[in-house]
Amino acid sequence: MVTEKAFAKINLFLDVTSRREDGYHNIISVMQSVSLCDTLHVSALYADDTQIRLYIDDPKLSTDENNLIYKSVLSYLEHYDIKAEVDIKVFKRIPIGAGLGGGSSDAAATLRALDNIFNLATEEDLLNIAVELGSDVPFCLLGGRALCTGRGERVEKLADLPLSYYVIAIGEGRVSTPRAYADLDRIYNNFVSTDGERKITNYPFYNIFENVVALDDISKIKEIMIKNEAEYTLMSGSGPAVFGKFKDQKSAETAEEILHGAGYSAYLCHSVKGAL
Ligand code: C5P
Repeated sequence: MVTEKAFAKINLFLDVTSRREDGYHNIISVMQSVSLCDTLHVSALYADDTQIRLYIDDPKLSTDENNLIYKSVLSYLEHYDIKAEVDIKVFKRIPIGAGLGGGSSDAAATLRALDNIFNLATEEDLLNIAVELGSDVPFCLLGGRALCTGRGERVEKLADLPLSYYVIAIGEGRVSTPRAYADLDRIYNNFVSTDGERKITNYPFYNIFENVVALDDISKIKEIMIKNEAEYTLMSGSGPAVFGKFKDQKSAETAEEILHGAGYSAYLCHSVKGAL
């Protein structure tokens, strides 16, 4: 059996430059893996017929072929034309649909675990399988810190920063990713302009979705974080998760406690280095 951690991601920078013919958007993002994680226990054996048994400790998630973990297993087996009995147990800790890449990271961890067992893939193979599963899956496969472009799937590793402490907090309400992109299209006139691509924002901590996904709790969480010595705060992905960066573990712990006290889910975590 292989145990694999699926780390959450935060977007340290996220801008959208254009809308593409395939309906996706070109983005420029710096993504960072953090220690908040799901844990997957995976066992797999060659067999005459493929059987996938998925157990997740969160009943809100489906465990059939609609689940991205299930799809990842099928993609891996089909890519190598092999059949296997696969058992996966998932301990889910990353909040679902929060902009933290939990589903993508589970998919990436599944691919890493299966390849630990079967040892068939090159890094390039895994990235090719990953991209079919979702725009953020290639980044989650590599982890660490990276510049992600295209629809997010073109991943260029960046040097790891010194260990950084973050608090991630989540309030009420959420906007689905497709809906957030549709709202952006409306606000930015489908990114149509006479002088080509929209110029990227020249600001170090920026998320274009922050003002689009304008939920009350986002500004309230940011305010609490800033009052408690956050160096900066930013929404992650298309939200609603917000993270704050803190100068050390102690100040992050204090902010986490205060956010809990104010009724928010809050998670103290730190940056993690790349997996591959
Ligand atoms: O790739 P993924 O399945 O995560 O994307 C989910 C949805 O988010 C897409 O169907 C699309 O509506 C939107 N999206 C986008 N541009 C991106 C990534 C996602 O428009 N770069």
